[in-house]
Amino acid sequence: SERTLILVKPDGVRKGLVGEVLSRIENKGLKLVALELRTLTRDVAEDHYGEHRERPFFGELVEFITGGPLVALVAEGPRAIEAFRALAGATDPVKAAPGTLRGDFALEIGENIVHGSDSPESAAREVKLFFPELG
Ligand code: GTP
Ligand code: MG
Repeated sequence: SERTLILVKPDGVRKGLVGEVLSRIENKGLKLVALELRTLTRDVAEDHYGEHRERPFFGELVEFITGGPLVALVAEGPRAIEAFRALAGATDPVKAAPGTLRGDFALEIGENIVHGSDSPESAAREVKLFFPELG
């Protein structure tokens, strides 16, 4: 069993999609281990998206993710990382398959509703960044 860090990004909270995202996570059989509504500081946002620091859209990404409350959660289950990435769909919502969260509820790449860790290494780093008390 493994853990993954999931965010319902500020656009998802603004659109009232927290319940929908949680339902899909729970319906899939993943278990909630931690969950909190919070607004990210610039420091945490830049740390979280550190791998994208040199990208042209980095400034926009940090503005967006700090622009309102988000829901951070940790989910656990067999292949939880891959399982949630499948629920989320492709990064570009126009390419994301219908039936996925991004495919169903988003249109723009910069506002794509959810985040999910993309590897065991990033999951470990992100879980520690958001919920240091989980160890
Ligand atoms: P996350 O789960 O948010 O990390 O998305 P991802 O893993 O599917 O994509 P990636 O880590 O490559 O990019 C992180 C975020 O940057 C994406 O979710 C997008 O919101 C944003 N992003 C990626 N590419 C672009 C781009 O070309 N333009 C803009 N404006 N945003 C982008
Ligand atoms: Mg990513």
